[in-house]
Amino acid sequence: MEGFARYNHWFDGMALMHQFRIEDGNVTYMSKFLRSETYQTNTANNRIMVSEFGTLAMPDPCKNIFARFMSKFEIPKASDNGNVNFARYKGDYYATTETNFIHKVDLNTLDTIEKVDWTKFIAVNGATAHPHYDPDGTTYNMGNSYGKNGTAYNIIAVPQQKSDDEETLEDARVVCQITPGNSMKPSYYHSFGISENYVVFVEQPLKINVLKILTSKFRGESLSCAFNWEPELNTVIHVANKHSGEIVPFKYYSKAFSTFHHINAFEDDGFIVLDLCGLDNGDIMNKINLQNLRQSGEALDEVYNTLPKSLPRRFVLPLNINSNTPINQNLNTLTYSNAVVFRTADGKIWCEFEDLHDDDLLDEGGMEFPQINYAKYNMKKYKFLYGCGINNIMVDSLIKMDVETKKFKMWKEKGYYPSEPVFVPSPDSADEDDGIILSVVVSPNQNKSSFLLILDARTFTEIGRAEVAVRIPSGFHGVFAAK
Ligand SMILES: [Fe+2]
Repeated sequence: MEGFARYNHWFDGMALMHQFRIEDGNVTYMSKFLRSETYQTNTANNRIMVSEFGTLAMPDPCKNIFARFMSKFEIPKASDNGNVNFARYKGDYYATTETNFIHKVDLNTLDTIEKVDWTKFIAVNGATAHPHYDPDGTTYNMGNSYGKNGTAYNIIAVPQQKSDDEETLEDARVVCQITPGNSMKPSYYHSFGISENYVVFVEQPLKINVLKILTSKFRGESLSCAFNWEPELNTVIHVANKHSGEIVPFKYYSKAFSTFHHINAFEDDGFIVLDLCGLDNGDIMNKINLQNLRQSGEALDEVYNTLPKSLPRRFVLPLNINSNTPINQNLNTLTYSNAVVFRTADGKIWCEFEDLHDDDLLDEGGMEFPQINYAKYNMKKYKFLYGCGINNIMVDSLIKMDVETKKFKMWKEKGYYPSEPVFVPSPDSADEDDGIILSVVVSPNQNKSSFLLILDARTFTEIGRAEVAVRIPSGFHGVFAAK
């Protein structure tokens, strides 16, 4: 939207769904806007009527002056603009953001079928756009609740079974609640980890000021202004048993770091190995507004130079801690990781991560949007991590990282910008990297086509590309759905 209505932040655009369909040797493409209430309201009024993360909708000019004034005292309505990811529940696909609304989508037509409100089923005010899929069919997710009993981080489970007479997510349940360090300032989180028996939750010092959210319209500020990086705090890692809901009675502490995307987690010999893309500084959210990104020359360099690098990191969390656990002694006995963890004199479990990369990745600028061979290696010890290389915030390469040797392979083509690499295993594959990588590659150059790129995951070389005569905007996440 232009002119009178313009979004301020990279996270805010209307959800535009894209689909490449590979069938009988042909590739076809279609796209469609998600018919959310936000989309329909904005379209009907030809302006932004619903606030997004970094954009505060202005009062409706059609209201009288009193109503416009009073609207400042309303609590902002949650947007249902599911522009982050597709999530799968009970075999159906949903366009998701991080509010309480998700939309079921027909993958054959990209039609919006049904709007679902989490609050109708369970007491949560939202859920992440990155659920996990357990081999037993359960989909796990996490979401915050803000209520009379205070704020909580909730672990949510949605069983696989679907009966004819039940509403879509009616049997969703809260497995357990984790209490924030400060209930008026819970942490923001975008994803979490899952192992065979546990959910791992990283409570980072990127804080959501609840009072600022409630008063954002009155103060004339977008929701993003309620997010604050507080590096004087530690990052705290919580672990809960996903079957029993029991929360592990000790927490793990680290110096302040931030994370958007978890990579993998698995259990090994009394430890949870937790891999994620981490940043030393979590104030990135307010730096990547579009006013900053639209700058040029030295001003843009200034933005780039202050952005933290996102890097793959490994934490090792011991599960067997008791009063006899020695103090100030590295408890990590896993021979393949130099992550450090020890019990301090004041009883904390203190963690220092292992870098899952060498200096070559630092030279490239880091990586984000991590993916693995999820179907076979999520919750298991693994070797290969795929992601986007980030050069001055521009996602300009694809990376295959060997987390054992810390060497990587790269795909890069000047002037092109790839999306999250989606790994699809070969039928009956035996090796971890036996499969292909799918990525949607776009270019701002009018003379260059967008295309679906297919790489051999083993060699990381191109198998083919399907070009489309459409200028596809840069997106965040993608999924592969077999027919
Ligand atoms: Fe994400």
